[in-house]
Amino acid sequence: MSEHDRSAWEQRWSRALREHGDRVAQRPPNAHLTAEIGDLRPGRALDAGCGHGAETLWLAAGGWQVTAVDFAATALAFARSTAEAIGPDVAERIDWLEADLATWTPPPDQYDLVICLNVHVAGSVEETVQRMATGVAPGGTLFLVGHRPIDPATGAATAAAGQVQVSVEAALAALDPGQWQPLIADERPRPMAGTSVDAVIQARRRS
Ligand SMILES: C[S@@+](CC[C@H](N)C(=O)[O-])C[C@H]1O[C@@H](n2cnc3c(N)ncnc32)[C@H](O)[C@@H]1O
Repeated sequence: MSEHDRSAWEQRWSRALREHGDRVAQRPPNAHLTAEIGDLRPGRALDAGCGHGAETLWLAAGGWQVTAVDFAATALAFARSTAEAIGPDVAERIDWLEADLATWTPPPDQYDLVICLNVHVAGSVEETVQRMATGVAPGGTLFLVGHRPIDPATGAATAAAGQVQVSVEAALAALDPGQWQPLIADERPRPMAGTSVDAVIQARRRS
């Protein structure tokens, strides 16, 4: 990912938080995630590309110890102060880390849950999925969501037009079936927008 991409995200977050930070703070966590992960026993989680932190905060409130990674310092600062405003029970369960997911590799076999939601991938989706997957401990869960660039219902370009995001095909191609059991590999309606489609992948690392 180039410096240009990072500064573009910084500008995007600065403007969004300046103009409607209150609305951003109220955005609920991803509905695919809350529907599928809510019953997992809390452990250690990685939120790769955490943005303003809605999913990180939801996980921490549910008892997960979360490492939250993003390359946009503005988003991380906002997310950290939201966590602190919620209280020490949540804030102390989160490590905020500024890093570039194009090159950053999670510590191996470390996390019971790795999520990466709606992140624009700089290079190959397969390579990125495999790199994020190295962080999952045996028996742990990988949960990915990618906003599809075209709305299949209308053929219209979505907010992810022109971006490379996780697709079902690329994620499945990246995960060795000898090591991974796919639990979900679907295109599903995008919950918040009420239009468009998300690729949703959940896989369990075999023990
Ligand atoms: C569309 S937002 C999604 C945020 C959150 N995961 C969600 O689903 O609401 C994409 C986030 O990924 C971050 N991001 C994009 N490319 C990245 C990279 N190479 N390294 C780290 N963070 C990145 C952006 O800064 C942004 O916060």
